[in-house]
Amino acid sequence: MPIDKIDGGYYAAQQGLDPKGNRIDVHRNFHGVSMETINVFPTPVCTGQIVPTDQQYHEANVFLDGLWDEAKRGAWAAETGLSTGELEHGQELYENPVFDWLTMPMLTAVKDYWINVVKYRRDYHMYIDSMWANLHDEGDTTGEHSHANGWGKSHVSCVYYFTKGLEGGEICFKNPLEYIHRLCPLDECYDSVDRHGSGPMYDWHEVQPRQFDYVIFPSWLPHKTRPNGPEERIAISMNFSGFPLDPTEGDFGELDDLEGEHCS
Ligand SMILES: [Fe+2]
Repeated sequence: MPIDKIDGGYYAAQQGLDPKGNRIDVHRNFHGVSMETINVFPTPVCTGQIVPTDQQYHEANVFLDGLWDEAKRGAWAAETGLSTGELEHGQELYENPVFDWLTMPMLTAVKDYWINVVKYRRDYHMYIDSMWANLHDEGDTTGEHSHANGWGKSHVSCVYYFTKGLEGGEICFKNPLEYIHRLCPLDECYDSVDRHGSGPMYDWHEVQPRQFDYVIFPSWLPHKTRPNGPEERIAISMNFSGFPLDPTEGDFGELDDLEGEHCS
């Protein structure tokens, strides 16, 4: 039997699996014992899609092509590819009307996230703080980072996949409780970041976006990308900030009166 009673305590005689490779059921020798798992304190991440017209896509692509000609590989932050972030005004793409088809619906989606998902106060002023684009060729990655820090002011961030192939370039969010979980009993393969498809994922959660998808997340949430596949990947990142109109008062009001699309 896998369970032995020693000095009043019960101990698993084997490590997780029986000789046939099945999970050890530590309750099977006892009557009236059952257990269910509740995963508490989730972090809300929303996804959706904004599809440009052919003309909107073309005009934005032509504009970005001009910026890629100026950019240098690996020159920006944790990027191995090209980024407009290093260029003058390259973090202010929202100022160009060529992106209005993206920035306006994205602002609506973030307001929806703000009010209906994280349920923050309603009397706020929200604006786009920064917006830049990264281009990945095959094998390029973005290293681990977040969009908030001690001197920044971004609250909600999103990434939009202007161009993306089916393989590679997935975004991976890091469990913000990682250091806490490391103080607790854990699956022995906790440190393998390549565990996908089965078992617990304590450390990273992978999202597999398609072209024209967006992903909204709290700016503090660390993330990185997997190496890009063979097709070019252009990701447009946006940071949003929201501030109460009167910090001393609050109107949390009724929820769900936005006319825009909800996160899905
Ligand atoms: Fe990012």
